[in-house]
Amino acid sequence: MADNHHHEHHGHDQGHWNDRYASTARLFNAEPDESLVELAGDLPPGRAVDLGAGEGRNSLWLAKRKWQVTAVDLSDIALGRLASAAAEENLSIKTVVGDMLEYLDKGEKFDLVVLAYIQWMPEERAKLLAAAAGAVAPGGYLLLVGHHLESLGKGGPPQPERLYTEDSLKDAFPGLDLIHMERRERAAGDIGLPLVDAVVWAVRPKNQQKP
Ligand SMILES: C[S@@+](CC[C@H](N)C(=O)[O-])C[C@H]1O[C@@H](n2cnc3c(N)ncnc32)[C@H](O)[C@@H]1O
Repeated sequence: MADNHHHEHHGHDQGHWNDRYASTARLFNAEPDESLVELAGDLPPGRAVDLGAGEGRNSLWLAKRKWQVTAVDLSDIALGRLASAAAEENLSIKTVVGDMLEYLDKGEKFDLVVLAYIQWMPEERAKLLAAAAGAVAPGGYLLLVGHHLESLGKGGPPQPERLYTEDSLKDAFPGLDLIHMERRERAAGDIGLPLVDAVVWAVRPKNQQKP
């Protein structure tokens, strides 16, 4: 009960995430997401925001490709790791420690918005995905990758509601056109189980009529 309460309120998750990061020198993979590499690899660099950037594998990849990156995360430990990795490679990445939904409220616009493995409960997720879509500048892109419902029990959080389905994603990004929405399979390193990810690649048309 106490634990559920804790997870329902994204604004109070900092302790939970910091504990997870503090328990190990590196919590997540250091390699950039393969869909990011494939899809953003050909874009001209611009302004990008990595929402829930964690230890920064995607922010670092973008910054190396001359993107001007803002990395937002609740965990100061994770962003500290990101900042040291950036400093080692002489990259400059802006870090914002805080709640990403609050950050998005400021209304900044980006040429690329990245949401990688952010697995919120449906009600909060709907607000987050709509706000993330709102942060995409005209002509800009949004990439969401995350654990698909078909990975239940194999990867990602144990609650099915937190996992993505095509159905829950297709109308989640107001104002954006979906270029692809797909299932992506990958072998989970150590256990070798095939995991399924959901991938959304969307664009905000350049000459959109304001409603
Ligand atoms: C599974 S990790 C993914 C990290 C990174 N995107 C990646 O793919 O390697 C989820 C991250 O979301 C962050 N997070 C969770 N809730 C958040 C919130 N409300 N605002 C900002 N960051 C949040 C956590 O601290 C954690 O670093």
